[in-house]
Amino acid sequence: MNFTVSESIEFSNDILKPISNFKNERFEIVICPSFMSLPFNYQILSNLVKFGAQNISHNHGEKGSFTGEISAEMLVNLGIEAVILGHSERRQHFFEKDDLIKSKARSANNQGLTSIICIGETSEEKRLMQTDTVVINQLRNSLPETFSHSNTVIAYEPVWAIGTGKTPTAEEIADVHYKIREYIAKVSNAEISSSIRIIYGGSVNPKNAKDILSVKDVDGALVGGASLLEKDFSK
Ligand code: PGA
Repeated sequence: MNFTVSESIEFSNDILKPISNFKNERFEIVICPSFMSLPFNYQILSNLVKFGAQNISHNHGEKGSFTGEISAEMLVNLGIEAVILGHSERRQHFFEKDDLIKSKARSANNQGLTSIICIGETSEEKRLMQTDTVVINQLRNSLPETFSHSNTVIAYEPVWAIGTGKTPTAEEIADVHYKIREYIAKVSNAEISSSIRIIYGGSVNPKNAKDILSVKDVDGALVGGASLLEKDFSK
């Protein structure tokens, strides 16, 4: 809830040139603005990047009497390809639990949207050395049976690292990503576990992005604050 629609249009126009110059077929860029800004940003940038939303309704993914909600179907109709689910702010401020996230992910997948499912431990859980247990439990309880490497991205986002400027060490990130991949292998197969994308989020910025992206088992980054500044985003 950072940009108004006009600020977001201005931002899209600012990043248009740097994004057009960005040529690296190994990478995919997905921008996830607020619902209000999505259609406007989509019009400006959809030839160059993919778009995602930050939430959807858990109700079937289709139309119905759910006042105030946005369905997966509405997003797909607009050309949106992905949705962030279970971000720690939704878990914390809107009391979203794993089973709700799971039904949202199921609705997303049923409508052909990719779910970017966020999981991660709080600072207290880290202090108690519960990171692995918390992360794997969240994954177990929020991954729908419809998941595969082509419709799901897992975002490991330690809650204490989001917007704080703090990040785990490369070893800690590698360890959690390895455990996530290992769990996926257990509940699916080798093809899915080796190709599913596990991305890291939490204080990724132009200074640390290269190091974080080169950690083993890290397939990308979920960037918050640094994606709101044209200069940082482009770098
Ligand atoms: P940050 O946010 O990059 O500002 O830490 C990440 C997020 O909101 O998921």
